[in-house]
Amino acid sequence: MSEPLTRRDWLRRSGALLGGATLVGPGALTATTPSPRRSRSPIRMMYNENPYGPSRTARMTMTKAFEESSLYNHFGASVEMKEILAKKEGVSPEEIVLGSGSREILNVAALHYLGDGGEIVANYPGYETLNTYAENLGAKVNRVRVKDDMSPDFPALRKAVNENTKLINFCNPNNPTGVAVGAKTLEPFCRAMESKCLVFVDEAYNEYVMDKGYRSMVNLVKEGLNVMVTRTFSKIHALAGIRLGYGVAMPVIVSKLEPLITGTVNILGLRAAMASLKDEGFQEMSRSKNLTAKEMVYEVLEQTGKEYAVSEGNFIFFRTGISIKEFQAKMEKKGILVGRPFPPFDKWCRLSMAKPNEMRKFASSFKEVMA
Ligand SMILES: Cc1ncc(COP(=O)(O)O)c(C=O)c1O
Repeated sequence: MSEPLTRRDWLRRSGALLGGATLVGPGALTATTPSPRRSRSPIRMMYNENPYGPSRTARMTMTKAFEESSLYNHFGASVEMKEILAKKEGVSPEEIVLGSGSREILNVAALHYLGDGGEIVANYPGYETLNTYAENLGAKVNRVRVKDDMSPDFPALRKAVNENTKLINFCNPNNPTGVAVGAKTLEPFCRAMESKCLVFVDEAYNEYVMDKGYRSMVNLVKEGLNVMVTRTFSKIHALAGIRLGYGVAMPVIVSKLEPLITGTVNILGLRAAMASLKDEGFQEMSRSKNLTAKEMVYEVLEQTGKEYAVSEGNFIFFRTGISIKEFQAKMEKKGILVGRPFPPFDKWCRLSMAKPNEMRKFASSFKEVMA
């Protein structure tokens, strides 16, 4: 015979049906903060995901959007999404392109600009998706190694641009280093380069940045410059599995890229993203917990004498001093998955931030592995 449900059980189960949303009680429906205590096993510190999962409002909206999920043609919802994003970015809807994750926009940019050959200039290490897609099309990628402090080598980047360069791939903050370049440095670089080729600025981690000198390069798009910016709902909005990203560029660029998009964005993603954008409390919670987690890692790295790059993202790149493969295996034995190798930085690790209790487990496991 089944146990009678207590009121608490009932609430918990109802919450599960609504993807974790509570129906009654303090903070119901408008609550933004998913439980920070529930731990994951293994602890995922390898893909730069938001450990808290989607906001409650996004979860509830997705549950409701199931009703629409048997239908084709969400043209209306895509138009609405573009209008919302255009308003947020201060551009027109014709300057927004939606993709199945920002990765799709990176790929169609590669297809359009490098489909007939040509070259890319990119920081190394950096986020490689656009580069490798272009290489598969036969393009050449000039990878410019970052300086010893992990900041971009601007003179070398400028020097690497030649008459065949079609695109500069600039990730800010950069993945895997986490280093963000302030507007005072990046803006003049974009202005100087945009007459030579498209300056593509991948701002996937934009919302995590705390550095006051940082600014999105969207303002250069507004000025009509040959600059494209991409953003994603996969990071601070915690919707990586739902696949929604967007690009901002002049209408003439958007109209070239949009026909190359291979599918349509999905209705759950659109509805969840609209809800998540409004949920500023969730974004603020994610940002501040990310900062606390990073401070804890910096402290552990300093205690153990490890070199690291100060990160503006939701991850930290640091020198383990042992092979990353060995480090990965040792951490996995402790129930923690850490980032993959980024050659030639084979003794460095990219570590994604996690929940407070998971961070404590990381700290103690790391000290044991390094002892
Ligand atoms: C810098 C950067 N850009 C783009 C992406 C692609 O993200 P998505 O396709 O989920 O929007 C990622 C994913 O990790 C990333 O780190």
